[in-house]
Amino acid sequence: MNYFNYNKGTLYSEGVAIKDIASENATPFYCYSSDAFISNINKLKKAFNEISPKICYSTKSNSNLSILKLLNKEGAGADVVSVGELKKSLLAGINPSEIVFSGVGKTEEEIEFAISNKIFQINAESVSELHTINKIAKSLNIRQQVSIRINPDIIGDTHKNISTGGLGDKFGIPFSDVKDLFFNNSSFADIEISGIAFHIGSQIKTIEPFTKVFKKTSELIKEVNRDRQIIKFLDIGGGFGVDYENNTQEFPLNEYVDLIKKFFDVKALKIILEPGRYISWNAGILVTKVLYIKIHGNKKFIITDCGMNDFMRPALYEGFHKIIPLIEIQSTEKISTDVVGPICETTDKLISIDEFYDVKEGDLLAVLNTGAYGSSMSSNYNVRPLIDEVLISKDTYRIVRKRQTFEESILQET
Ligand SMILES: Cc1ncc(COP(=O)(O)O)c(C=O)c1O
Repeated sequence: MNYFNYNKGTLYSEGVAIKDIASENATPFYCYSSDAFISNINKLKKAFNEISPKICYSTKSNSNLSILKLLNKEGAGADVVSVGELKKSLLAGINPSEIVFSGVGKTEEEIEFAISNKIFQINAESVSELHTINKIAKSLNIRQQVSIRINPDIIGDTHKNISTGGLGDKFGIPFSDVKDLFFNNSSFADIEISGIAFHIGSQIKTIEPFTKVFKKTSELIKEVNRDRQIIKFLDIGGGFGVDYENNTQEFPLNEYVDLIKKFFDVKALKIILEPGRYISWNAGILVTKVLYIKIHGNKKFIITDCGMNDFMRPALYEGFHKIIPLIEIQSTEKISTDVVGPICETTDKLISIDEFYDVKEGDLLAVLNTGAYGSSMSSNYNVRPLIDEVLISKDTYRIVRKRQTFEESILQET
């Protein structure tokens, strides 16, 4: 489903022409569609209806406050991985009882903040972390619900840099050590260890790897719950893949739901989801201007004003993103072309392509499907400011993050 489409040759989202936003604001900027976020979360809600899971939107994919608010209105809680994400989620009005806290390196201060704010669940990723959570819970006299994030040693069909379920990855507690934690838990008397969590990676396109994890996990749950129900919560993470090349949400959600029902007693277990990309990916574009065009022998470079500090995915893990002009261009040129940014790094490249639109200097382009892991990964590298984010809703748009000034970007420096 496309939420950014041409209407008489001009790119629109909902009722707003993107070129009008560009004429009122400096490029580059992120531009989001409210409708896309709402449709995506509702698609998930519909597919999982029978199971009625807690949907904790993975805020790392796009943590803009207005987006968190928008999704919360549609019933989403939050999956956070830092006290910063947790504070933003609370600020956006998300009820602590709808928040789960994952992450391999939570500090004592972060854990204390989470427990004192009575969040629903902390996903512990090491035995040492369990000791820390227990110590802090005891001192606060709050019995925190904790899930063990398992490392199932199962690799998803995804890029190695976003795979998190193998033993060679830093995430979770090795599967073979987990059962013992439920039975020999006298050192953790001040917390409630009553859940299992996993997240085997992002951008997983098939359900095969999930089948393997579900099988392994369901056997563990059966064993642990043999005499009484110790495990009450099952957090199955996120990771639903999308198709960046064809702009489709290809992950077989219905098959996935059937798989959950096949392996788990969904009446006895509360299922928790942590989807990020599936909700935000096609809800955003990155608008950029062509600064210069130059030819090096047989190679054309289109130099834009958007750098890898604004959008990391291509440089970080070879993320593919289509680029289209804001005003439709019919003619293309067959020449090896790199669309690049201004950053002093060779990997500062949006795309390498053999045929591209015959764009001119000054033209505006849209980098598609940049709603997930776009703005949330941006930085001030090369002393460039964080850029505007705008949110379209029907016939209007508003700025939901203002571009940093130079002075703001160096405020903390002396
Ligand atoms: C623990 C955890 N949960 C959920 C997610 C969201 O993944 P996705 O955006 O692929 O749904 C991530 C992403 O890395 C994660 O690390």
